[in-house]
Amino acid sequence: MVWVSGWRLASAASNAGCLGLLGAGSMRPELLREHIRKCRQATDQPFGVNIPLLYKHAPELIQVVLEEQVQIVVSSAGNPRLYTARLQEAGIKVLHVCGTAAFTAKAHTAGADAIICEGMEAGGHNSREEITTLCLIPQARQETDKPLVAAGGIASGAAILAVMALGADGAQLGSRFALTQESSAHPAFKQAVIEAGEADTDLALRAVTPVRMLRNALYHQIKAMEQQDASAEALREFMGQGRSRRGIFEGDLAEGELEIGQIAGTLTDIPTVKELIQRLQTEYSAAHTRLHASL
Ligand SMILES: Cc1cc2nc3c(=O)[nH]c(=O)nc-3n(C[C@H](O)[C@H](O)[C@H](O)COP(=O)(O)O)c2cc1C
Repeated sequence: MVWVSGWRLASAASNAGCLGLLGAGSMRPELLREHIRKCRQATDQPFGVNIPLLYKHAPELIQVVLEEQVQIVVSSAGNPRLYTARLQEAGIKVLHVCGTAAFTAKAHTAGADAIICEGMEAGGHNSREEITTLCLIPQARQETDKPLVAAGGIASGAAILAVMALGADGAQLGSRFALTQESSAHPAFKQAVIEAGEADTDLALRAVTPVRMLRNALYHQIKAMEQQDASAEALREFMGQGRSRRGIFEGDLAEGELEIGQIAGTLTDIPTVKELIQRLQTEYSAAHTRLHASL
C-alpha cells in the first residue's frame, strides 16, 4: 500500500507468518532499494514488492527489484504481460492483481504464478467493472487453477475463512493493516478511519482511475466536478500530484486523498501486526468451529 507499507510493516507481517509487501508505488527507485535492504535486515522470512504499473517510474522500480534479487513481485494496475516473463526469467515469482474474472484469465495466460482478485470494496485503486469480492472469487476461480488470493473487504479471520470457502487459497488484507502500529500512515489518517462508519467510503474518479476513499472535503469537491461532467483531464488537473501522500502520510484530512476500503466501518483499533495476526488466527478458528458444528 502506497504511503503505508514500508519496511517496518512488511517485515513485521513476514515475521508474524504472512507475506509482507513493500508498497513501491509511493517510492522513488533509490528509496525502494533502501526499504528492500532494511526489510532484509528486519526479517529472514520471504517478503515481496508491489509495483503498480500505471506509474511512470514503474520501469525503474522493476530494475531495482531485479538488481536487489527480490523473490516475489506483485504487479497491479496494468497489463500482466508487460513484465511477468522478464521477472520470472530472473527467478522471481509474480502475482498480478485483477478486478474481474476476464482479467484473471488474461493474467493466467500471461503466466502469472498466482493471481490476486480484488473486489470493489477494496481501499485504493479499483477496477472499473466494480465487481464485489463475493461475486468475483467464484467466477475468477473458474478461470484459473493457479493459487488465487482474495482481496477487498477482508479484515477478520471469519472473512478469510469465507473467501477460502468461495475458492480462494489465501487472502490479502489492506485496510486492516493500514491501521496497525507498524503502518506508516499518519496518526490523523488512522484516527479518521477509526471514526468512519459503514457508508463513509465511496468510489470516486471513475473517469480517471476509480479510487475508494473516505468522503472528506476533497471527495465532495471531486463529486461536485463529476456531477458537472468534468472531463478526465479536468479531474487530473484538479487532483494534481501528491494527494495520497498529503492524505495518508501527512494527515491532511481535508485536501488529501484518504484511500481506505469499505471495511473501514469495522476498524476500531490500531494493534501491532503481531497482535493482529494472532487475533485473525483466533477468529478464523472460532468461525471454522462454529460452521463445522452447524453441519
Ligand atoms: C491506503 C491504501 C493504499 C493502497 N495502495 C496500493 C498499491 O499501491 N498497490 C496495490 O496494488 N494496491 C494498493 N492498495 C490495495 C491493497 O493492496 C489491497 O488489495 C486492498 O486494500 C484490499 O482491500 P481492503 O482494503 O478491503 O482490505 C491500497 C489500499 C489502501 C487502503
